[in-house]
Amino acid sequence: MSEQKHALVTGGSRGIGSEIVKVLLSEGYEVWSLSRTKMDDRENLHHIGCDMADRSSTEAALESVIKQAGSMDVLVNNAGITRDGLIMRMKDEAWDEVLAVNLTSVFLTCRRISRLMASQRKGSIINISSVVGIMGNGGQTNYAASKAGIIGFSKSLARELASRSVRVNVVAPGFIDTAMTDALSGVLKEQIATQIPLGRIGKAVEVAEAVAFLASEKASYITGQVLAVDGGMAM
Ligand code: NAI
Repeated sequence: MSEQKHALVTGGSRGIGSEIVKVLLSEGYEVWSLSRTKMDDRENLHHIGCDMADRSSTEAALESVIKQAGSMDVLVNNAGITRDGLIMRMKDEAWDEVLAVNLTSVFLTCRRISRLMASQRKGSIINISSVVGIMGNGGQTNYAASKAGIIGFSKSLARELASRSVRVNVVAPGFIDTAMTDALSGVLKEQIATQIPLGRIGKAVEVAEAVAFLASEKASYITGQVLAVDGGMAM
């Protein structure tokens, strides 16, 4: 019998994160989800409450995951927020909060889990960026800085961990139908869809399937890459 595989997903309670959790569970992983709210209970799913804007809350949650799991095969940094606004009116809190949740939390989880993965001499880390981190977007300087930061961070980490057989990749979703994009009006969504070569908004499960591929042995020779799942937006 093969050994039980373990995965840690941040922000696994809803949207793209909950689809990632479901796909990994269906592939036989035991999954730990770190988020403020909880998704429905499922077999082999553990929920750890955590505010990823808060360094000590994140570090404490990571220690309890490691205590429970003992080993970790896959880490997916998915938790993320937006606090949009034009730069001239952007409040310090909007900058600080977005950078804390979207980028500093990635540093904290990768720092702790990469120690474990390096000692195991195996592991796959997938960090969720955005096409906005590649293309930029007016009204999202804070969000774009955090998402572009994830790309540079992940490529550097991929170089640091490659000799230990730990792979690090980025998934950059385009416009995906979740609570994050629900706030936009139907008319605006239709306009956005006209800018997407595939002509439609993406589904969370389409991002989750790309993450599961990068997590798997099928991607054993892929590290330091950015995979856009965006219907062709950023090509
Ligand atoms: P969402 O708003 O539906 O879910 C975000 C998740 O992050 C939730 O599980 C939430 O609990 C968690 N989270 C947020 N702040 C947290 C905090 N302080 N502590 C702990 N957990 C926290 O968002 P969605 O759309 O599922 O986004 C997931 C990721 O994909 C994010 O990193 C987002 O930036 C990225 N993304 C989303 C796109 C979209 O069109 N929906 C496009 C490109 C990237």
